[in-house]
Amino acid sequence: METQVPAIERLISGLLRRSGRRNASLRIVKRFFLEYKRDLFAHLRREETLTFPYVQEVCLLFRHPKRRSRKGILHSYSMSQYEEEHNNVDEKINDLQNILLMYIKGEYDEDICNAIIFELFRLEKDIRDHTRIEDHIMKPMVAEMEKTLKLHTA
Ligand SMILES: [Fe+2]
Repeated sequence: METQVPAIERLISGLLRRSGRRNASLRIVKRFFLEYKRDLFAHLRREETLTFPYVQEVCLLFRHPKRRSRKGILHSYSMSQYEEEHNNVDEKINDLQNILLMYIKGEYDEDICNAIIFELFRLEKDIRDHTRIEDHIMKPMVAEMEKTLKLHTA
């Protein structure tokens, strides 16, 4: 959020500046990227403010079952809710790479365009790791703890 995404955004702005603002396909790239950034940041912020504090609370309770939780978060969120709302932020980044690789027309700075594609591949790898850790480690582990603790049982 602080380095990779702003760096890509700067590269895209540079691409537009160097390639002439009349190139409509580049404006589409910028719009698409800004939308992606908005979705990605919303995804990460929700996890930081809700999912991870919840996971932390479940882990604490699991380790110290007698501990009285003061946080209502244990009852207002769950791994099944997380599963429902967790959207895959790694699919849209692929679309953006495809637009850059296949649909850009007219005159544009190829060096900057290549640099953007390279940075998008790096970002995609990070995001894929993010999703893999959440789906294959965090989610099953916390769901198991919920079961043991009998959280969310009617
Ligand atoms: Fe996520």
